[in-house]
Amino acid sequence: MIPYFDYRPGDRTIEAEIEAAMGRVRRSGRLVLGPEVEAFEREFAAWVGAAHGVGVASGTDALTLALRALEVGPGDEVITVANAGVPTVAAICAAGATPRFVDVDAEGLLLDASLLEAAVNDRTRCLLPVHLYGRPVAMEPLLELAAPHGLAVVEDCAQAHGARLGDRHVGTFGDIGCFSFYPTKNLGAYGDGGLCVTADAALAERLRRLRFYGFGSGDRRASIEGANSRLDEMQAAILRVKLGRLDAFLEERRGIAARYRAGLAATALQLPLEPPQTRHAFHLFVIQSDRRHELQAALEAAGIGSAVHYPEPVHRMEAYARLGYRDGDLPVSERASDRVLSLPIYPGLAPSAVDEVIAALSAAA
Ligand SMILES: Cc1ncc(COP(=O)(O)O)c(C=O)c1O
Repeated sequence: MIPYFDYRPGDRTIEAEIEAAMGRVRRSGRLVLGPEVEAFEREFAAWVGAAHGVGVASGTDALTLALRALEVGPGDEVITVANAGVPTVAAICAAGATPRFVDVDAEGLLLDASLLEAAVNDRTRCLLPVHLYGRPVAMEPLLELAAPHGLAVVEDCAQAHGARLGDRHVGTFGDIGCFSFYPTKNLGAYGDGGLCVTADAALAERLRRLRFYGFGSGDRRASIEGANSRLDEMQAAILRVKLGRLDAFLEERRGIAARYRAGLAATALQLPLEPPQTRHAFHLFVIQSDRRHELQAALEAAGIGSAVHYPEPVHRMEAYARLGYRDGDLPVSERASDRVLSLPIYPGLAPSAVDEVIAALSAAA
């Protein structure tokens, strides 16, 4: 049996350090927004190459608070994609803004920048690209469009810790980069967590207030209407240990991806793109095939877990019918939802397990 995801094989290699970090927090007398959070914010921001980091309760909250910090809200449209799952869209709606979807490119399944100009109108306030699967969206065309239109840019990096364009990490191109530490992510907590990075000290200060009822440091008076979206000390301490291993874990992911790529090269399966000058963080290894359903069944029969990211684009979901999209509006996203299949990829996944997945797929493809 090869599970689709398991955090335990990777964590086993740092078990003693994690136990020590948890014990340190338990004995410290400080459980929420304390020195571990402050240290993690500094260390993660430095790792990404950003000036400021603000820890929050989840990746979804990171996006919502980023939009609120940029004063994107009711009456405003935020341009994003419909094939990246519900959280990004839920975050836009939680900020009071309206999502406006553009389609994705057929090969990479990332926001198609050539469609942006036509989607911009006088209510557009923000571009929200998603670095989906760990593959970086080319940011230059977005930034070139955002500047003359006065649009904010928020990057959804929930799946992309470690993804780079040239030598720059995703999250450092827009106004604010938003990360998730949900347990399945490239950097996963033992529960929920999220973080915003920014180069702008004033935005960082606004984010700090927004995550804690609008309070400034040292006083309990709300200067703005905030939320409760705090990161706790236990998660921050665990994340600090894992951050120390993140580069090695990312290399392991890339090694697994290379093994899949070599092993599946002779099949008809469409393999993930990795254009030159980009570094895919391989949160997910997503193949595409018109025979997705049979392939997934064949893997299951062989005792191999897999997943679909995502089985339905958000514009087709009941909850978002009010946005007024119809079938056929986003043809590439719609078609992709029947074709994508995510294979197991995580630190500690043995090469022999990867070979088993390759063999099962090769037999079925
Ligand atoms: C693309 C994307 N955006 C946002 C999120 C939200 O992160 P969280 O689950 O930490 O709220 C996730 C993860 O679920 C995600 O995959």
